[in-house]
Amino acid sequence: MRIILLGPPGCGKGTQAEIICKSFDIPHISTGDILRSNVKRGTEIGLAAKEYMDSGRLVPDKIIIDMIKDRFLEADCKKGFLLDGFPRTIAQAEALDDLLQKMNIFLDYIINIDVPDEEIIDRISKRMSCSNCGEVYNLIFKKPKKEMTCDSCGLKLHQRDDDKEEVIRNRLEVYRKQTAPLIEYYKLKIKNVDGKKNINEVTKDILNILKS
Ligand code: AP5
Repeated sequence: MRIILLGPPGCGKGTQAEIICKSFDIPHISTGDILRSNVKRGTEIGLAAKEYMDSGRLVPDKIIIDMIKDRFLEADCKKGFLLDGFPRTIAQAEALDDLLQKMNIFLDYIINIDVPDEEIIDRISKRMSCSNCGEVYNLIFKKPKKEMTCDSCGLKLHQRDDDKEEVIRNRLEVYRKQTAPLIEYYKLKIKNVDGKKNINEVTKDILNILKS
């Protein structure tokens, strides 16, 4: 199964991706997670990406496309994959089309999770994550068992640098200008899901699409 999850920052792509990838035993490819791991390790990609990420701008297409090409070469992608946060520009979508064509494979589903801006700002301001294992929490409905501590690895939780309100607003603006045009690009294949529902309901709606 090959899936793209589209949607604005904070709409729940990562949350749903984790559940879906477990159900279908496919790798979760999040360009955001790959970039954050590079920033943490201080790699060349990380050094080039940090400034863009911290200000809520998109990292240049070339860096992202090269990163995805490398990731697709890994053995687990033979089972399929779920792309979370990629593509994010028309140029990335065209590069993906090219890559898939060369690999002689097709996308099965493109799902767009729709959530209004104010709800997104509220959700992101309450998001905490573990910089070690990447587990995501929410201070209202997915609290860690011990305050500000990751349930899985016991390390301190933190707020992402790009989750400050002014940066979130910029990410939403960038989304509207550079990423939302993908909805038109994929219009023949895209399925919309109402992301305002609770996590379980959103999962149910996505699974219904994937089973159809
Ligand atoms: P990335 O990491 O991809 O961030 P994003 O797309 O902005 O999405 P988020 O990770 O913020 O949110 P999400 O949709 O995964 O929501 P989540 O499940 O966490 O990208 C970060 C940066 O990297 C970009 O700004 C850019 O600089 C760079 N980048 C990445 N990819 C790139 C690319 N392809 N090209 C160029 N640059 C790129 O949920 C959010 C919160 O809401 C959580 O607290 C969660 O618990 C809660 N929640 C989830 N679902 C629900 C629900 N149904 N109801 C209530 N709360 C919910």
